[in-house]
Amino acid sequence: MAVLVTGGAGYIGSHTVAALLERGEEIVIVDNLQQGHREAVLGGKLYEGDLRDEAFLDQVFKENSIDAVIHFAANSLVGESMTNPGKYYHNNVYGTLCLLEAMNKNGVKRIVFSSTAATYGEPERVPIDEHDRTVPTNAYGETKLAMEKMMKWFDTAHGIHYVSLRYFNAAGAHASGKIGEDHSPETHLIPIVLQAALGQRPHISVFGDDYPTEDGTCIRDYIHVSDLADAHVLAVDRLRRGEDSAVYNLGNGQGFSVKQVIDIARNVTEREIPVVMEARRAGDPAVLIASSDRARKELGWQPKRDKLDDIIRSAWQWHSANPNGYGKN
Ligand code: UFG
Repeated sequence: MAVLVTGGAGYIGSHTVAALLERGEEIVIVDNLQQGHREAVLGGKLYEGDLRDEAFLDQVFKENSIDAVIHFAANSLVGESMTNPGKYYHNNVYGTLCLLEAMNKNGVKRIVFSSTAATYGEPERVPIDEHDRTVPTNAYGETKLAMEKMMKWFDTAHGIHYVSLRYFNAAGAHASGKIGEDHSPETHLIPIVLQAALGQRPHISVFGDDYPTEDGTCIRDYIHVSDLADAHVLAVDRLRRGEDSAVYNLGNGQGFSVKQVIDIARNVTEREIPVVMEARRAGDPAVLIASSDRARKELGWQPKRDKLDDIIRSAWQWHSANPNGYGKN
């Protein structure tokens, strides 16, 4: 039986495909290649197409024996979601509806879902656990929460079991050096810092140093993309064992400020990395740190690359070898 990975040519999707390949799974990938990269797919059978294309998706299910789906395909830019929420509802929410309908029609009963800490919004307390309230502060987080809720009702009605994984800040690259992070536009802190280290940007803009944190900059919980990938594989195992649907946070439980990230990146890269202080970015919570106790206990998940130095070093290995991303060196 094969695992269908939607968005398998994207950043986290491609690392999950790599983890599935390492353990000999048969893999089918669906990606419309709007954000994904064909070169990021290290194996499996790639179908280029969109989840919202009903006939196409049905054909993918018909041509393969799929027993589980891992669903990454979505738009994920917080800023863009605030100016163009319709795009997020259409691609993320409607795309997921099409996927669940196709699964139901084809008798596939297991789905692992790529969710986000953005479902929580401004946290009531840190570390955040899965029982904390979910009040997203942006349209992106709102669509991810809507997708989770849709899965709950498809479970109730049709017995499609799900595991939703709410990631904190994904970073780093595969140990092989073959795949890494290549977004266009890039908005995430670590790749932007590394682009500044490479001289591709004149400086890194720090969005706000007046937050109620020790050095005034925002604190985040950075998690290695291959540790995230491992959690998806464990989530497939959980569903194959026939266990209940569940929601898990994925983070290291340790927070680093923007300034700390830049300092570590200076050490790792041995480059200067000029910094310019700027105003706060709208919608940024001061501190986001995960409690991942539940994932450790119930999935047996154990992050193996949890030191921020190592996470940044692996990202640097990729960025310095592929300064312009996939296929553009
Ligand atoms: N930052 C800067 N300068 C930059 C880019 C980022 O100072 O050029 C700061 C941000 O203000 C934030 C921190 O670095 O304080 C991390 O920012 P990222 O954009 O890398 O990540 P976010 O925490 O904003 O977002 C991540 C995911 C989102 C998800 C969110 C909450 O990228 O998809 O976590 O889960 F919604």
